[in-house]
Amino acid sequence: MSHAESPGGKSNPVGMAIAIAVGTLMLVVGIILLAKYAVGTHSVGKDTKAATPEAVTERIAPVAKLAVEGGPAVAASVSAPPAPAVASVVSTAPAGKVDGKSTYDTACLACHAAGVAGAPKVGDKLAWGARIKAGNAALYAAAIKGKGAMPAKGGNTTLSDEAVKAAVDYMLAQSK
Ligand code: HEC
Repeated sequence: MSHAESPGGKSNPVGMAIAIAVGTLMLVVGIILLAKYAVGTHSVGKDTKAATPEAVTERIAPVAKLAVEGGPAVAASVSAPPAPAVASVVSTAPAGKVDGKSTYDTACLACHAAGVAGAPKVGDKLAWGARIKAGNAALYAAAIKGKGAMPAKGGNTTLSDEAVKAAVDYMLAQSK
């Protein structure tokens, strides 16, 4: 017993030192591995991925899709010649009164709001003053048949004469 104890117990400071060193090393390695694991799965792993354009796109996809879907519809209603809207105005015309403003907005505003191609601007008293003197009948006729750079009915041949007259009335009312 004492013979075996001597080399194993008392005269073994080197062994102890090695054991402590190995233990410490394993602890350090363990901490490093743990840290790596924690950093790897948490900060670096998920967060960097979360900031990638792909991940962001994926997350906002539903909203972006909605915006894209709404886009063309809005663009179409703005840029497309307002034939459908005008058609609906015309088709409802017999029932009620013709809405000059909505006809103007859809069929005439494109040129007459900014004075495109020399169109008399709505609100421009000077430009309209001389025309008003010619009489409403002449203006109606010009609007319906076309005049100079202005196409008949502003290019919207589906408009009824009444709708065009109402639009002229609206334009005149805005320009007095
Ligand atoms: C493509 C552009 C364009 C559109 C769309 C348009 N106009 Fe015009 N309009 C003109 C131009 C250009 C003139 C000036 C014509 C001239 O004096 O030679 C004009 C002139 C007129 C005049 C004055 C005519 C006259 O005898 O001096 C009236 C009224 C008129 N437009 C009504 C309308 C109405 C109503 C609409 C919608 C239904 C309409 N315009 C749509 C371009 C347009």
